[in-house]
Amino acid sequence: MYQFVIIAISSYILGSIFTLKNGCRKYTIEFAKGLLVPLVSGFYVHSGLSYLMASVGVLAAQSRPAFSKNNGYTGEIVSLGIVFFMSPVFGMALALMFFVIKKITGNYDQAVFVSSLMIPVMAFKIFSSDSYIIISLIIFANLVIQFWPLFLSKRIKSAVLYDMAVGIGVLGFLILLYFNKYVYRGFGAQTDIIRHGPEQIKYVALTFDDGPDPLYTPKILDILKEKNVPATFFLIGKNAEAYPEIAKRIVAEGHSIGNHTYSHKSLIPLSAKNTYKEIKNAEAAIEEATGIRPTLFRPPRGVYSGYARKLLKEERYTLVLWDVSTEDWAELAPKKIVANVINRVKPGSIILLHDSGDLLTFRGGNRNSTVKALPEIIDKLRDEGYEFLTVDQMIFISELMETEEYSLEDYLGPIPAQ
Ligand code: NI
Repeated sequence: MYQFVIIAISSYILGSIFTLKNGCRKYTIEFAKGLLVPLVSGFYVHSGLSYLMASVGVLAAQSRPAFSKNNGYTGEIVSLGIVFFMSPVFGMALALMFFVIKKITGNYDQAVFVSSLMIPVMAFKIFSSDSYIIISLIIFANLVIQFWPLFLSKRIKSAVLYDMAVGIGVLGFLILLYFNKYVYRGFGAQTDIIRHGPEQIKYVALTFDDGPDPLYTPKILDILKEKNVPATFFLIGKNAEAYPEIAKRIVAEGHSIGNHTYSHKSLIPLSAKNTYKEIKNAEAAIEEATGIRPTLFRPPRGVYSGYARKLLKEERYTLVLWDVSTEDWAELAPKKIVANVINRVKPGSIILLHDSGDLLTFRGGNRNSTVKALPEIIDKLRDEGYEFLTVDQMIFISELMETEEYSLEDYLGPIPAQ
């Protein structure tokens, strides 16, 4: 994660320097900052989260530059640069709209304000990546506060509201990070929830969440086939509906499937009725696509409610979390994903990976790093003496070990030494 902190800090520094007093050159430089800072950060870590960090850093420098005097706010120019980076067409449309309104009203602030209203509408229409949508919303909120032309005096604008907005923005971002980084590990210690298999034998389970995905799931299936590794896929109902052929292939190639809700909604704020719908609609979609009714369930972001637990029990589901998070949702470099597995794995581990999903939604993230890391994860685990099981095989074994009526070797063959 330290790479993202480096990106935010260096973007803030880059946003702070080279600020000129006035004139055309100032605008060119500020535009270039918006365009180039995320671009360069992409060479360092090619990931949605790095673009988000770069944009927040370079924008933050606009109002509170640390390394030069603030020569007037030009956040709108930097923002335009960032929008151009995300989509040149969108950027040009935005600039065009600004010039037309400026021509009509003759008022710079109003022209920025009115054209910024287009940003959230367009963002949801054209961007499929969560990070681009979040960046657009941050830019939008920032511009609305700065250019609210009719109701506020300059003084209030620059002081109280702006600081509040920055505070709320930063807080929101930290909450987002918290939810992704920590909640993914799940809370508490409940015995009816499975986080890992038996620790006595050197087996692990690879699990892939959020698919099926038309781009990444087939690549992952190819690798698993080539390496002869069984895995467990927690499918999103909507994605199973959209890509039933891939869901079928997962099952046909001997992998296990689980239910990961219909539309990847967090279960905690949901009503009982909607919780039921999220679980049962996914079940119907997965059964329709694969012919199999799943019995494993994994809640989105590892968060579940008391009601969901009760319902899952009644519906004969096993709630499955994980004990090794690869943090691949952050689109880390493949090397880092491999290291997260190797440093955290122990016998019986359930390893969390993603073949689809995004920071917030259920589709659109870049999973190239996961695909690249997978062969190395498998090879390194094998080098350390690990073998692979699906989650239901793990549960089966762990039940056998509890009853102790059977010899494990009857089922597994010789158990590898630890
Ligand atoms: Ni998920």
